[in-house]
Amino acid sequence: MSATRSWASKPLDIGVPGPTPLDMARELRSIRADPLSFLSAVTEQYGDLVAFPVPGAPALLLNDPVDVRHVLQTSARNWGKQTIQYAALSRVTGPGLLASSEPNWIEHRRVAAPAFHHQRLEAVADQVRAAADAAIAERLGGDVAAGGALVDVAALTHRIGLDAVGRALFSTDLSGHAQRLLDATSDAATLVYRLGRSVLQTAAWAPTPTNLRLRSTYRRLDAISADLVAQRRGGRPAAGGSHGDDLLGLLLDSGMSDAEIRHELVTMVIAGHETVAAALAWTLMLLAEDQAVQDRLRAELTQHGGPVSLMGHRETLPWTRAVVDESLRLFPPAWALSRRSRGEDVIAGHPVPAGTLAIISPWLVHRRSESWPDPLTFRPDRFLGATGTPPGYLPFGQGPRLCIGREFALGEMVVVLSRLLTTYQVDVPDGWSRPRAEAKVAVHPHGGMPLVVTRLGRTGS
Ligand code: HEM
Repeated sequence: MSATRSWASKPLDIGVPGPTPLDMARELRSIRADPLSFLSAVTEQYGDLVAFPVPGAPALLLNDPVDVRHVLQTSARNWGKQTIQYAALSRVTGPGLLASSEPNWIEHRRVAAPAFHHQRLEAVADQVRAAADAAIAERLGGDVAAGGALVDVAALTHRIGLDAVGRALFSTDLSGHAQRLLDATSDAATLVYRLGRSVLQTAAWAPTPTNLRLRSTYRRLDAISADLVAQRRGGRPAAGGSHGDDLLGLLLDSGMSDAEIRHELVTMVIAGHETVAAALAWTLMLLAEDQAVQDRLRAELTQHGGPVSLMGHRETLPWTRAVVDESLRLFPPAWALSRRSRGEDVIAGHPVPAGTLAIISPWLVHRRSESWPDPLTFRPDRFLGATGTPPGYLPFGQGPRLCIGREFALGEMVVVLSRLLTTYQVDVPDGWSRPRAEAKVAVHPHGGMPLVVTRLGRTGS
């Protein structure tokens, strides 16, 4: 029995332009194959507010930073996460922080928050450096000599992303689990994406291939998390009888059930490594394409000397941080956020009923020419000297559900760039064309990111 969406109930007309059901049916293949291009095309055609022809309450694509702020921040209480996107995610992570649509979200956020406080992040900088160095030695050590070698840097950053989360948040060398985790989380990402995009919402118990794989992926992730919890419980308690001040320790000390702890662990692994990995791969591409920006970044890092910390880069490494900010503008890994209204509201002057779906794509908002002059050009200087977050910039979301890992992710990106680019040079190969941006759970370079990596004379930090 499948809970099939029917077109029998008519879309509610609230006077917002958008594609017709026929347009959608015609475009179904391209929507599935390349949702980013589809969303860009409808925005180009209909403007900053687009209505999709779904039955019942409207489904709106919001592109104006004022409307985005309204939904994510100003009226956030009225806009929850009861959407297909988060329902799909929660079938892999359970109701962890990212997928949860209350009521326990705020409690869980309070428990996890100290793991991301500045002091704690400073304390784990060594772990992030170690993760970067280990993966660089493993993947680049042997074959990359002064002559250069073609390397899929996306595979490298994927490995670093996972290892950094393991070491920094769970104080665990995940290498024993690394392959299992990498396989399980990349399967999970594919499945979440497939479920989230499906128009026909198959019942959770139906034995479809996706559901069977989903259950097995869930079980694999659950088993790895259970191992991590058991290992820590079996170890000697830290001073004061606590389980330690990393994320795993905080969760164990909080009185959460084992199932809740596992949901948070799986959430952090999935939310915390694919995003950073994809962002780093795109950043390396942009640097390979623009040698002047890369040289300036390397000069700044070399002048800085010594190990780079996880925090305070706007002051200590302004150019490197501006490169990261600009890269996250052009290639925001979290390409679509969604919310559903609990009660009535008004969007851009249009009254909307309870149950309205709001889709917000940082990818589109960041490429809006009214907000960003020359939006497709990589220009880190836009962010030099920035103090706060510019309007229309939301790689980490906005409002109360802002990414809890934001500072960690930004710090990790700078640290990884410092480890990599003070020792290696990256270039695009001959006949270069950019890999297609593939919108899955994060926006990945389709088929990886093959760049020419060349070892420099020793100048390392
Ligand atoms: C470049 C890297 C990252 C990007 C682009 C990113 C992006 C985002 C975005 C856009 C949201 C908000 C989702 C929404 O409002 O619907 C979010 C939430 C979240 N992120 Fe990240 N993230 C990154 C790294 C991380 C890391 C490293 C972690 C943890 C280790 C993490 C854990 C989370 C969690 C738990 C939430 C849910 C927070 C809540 O609702 O309270 N993220 N992230």
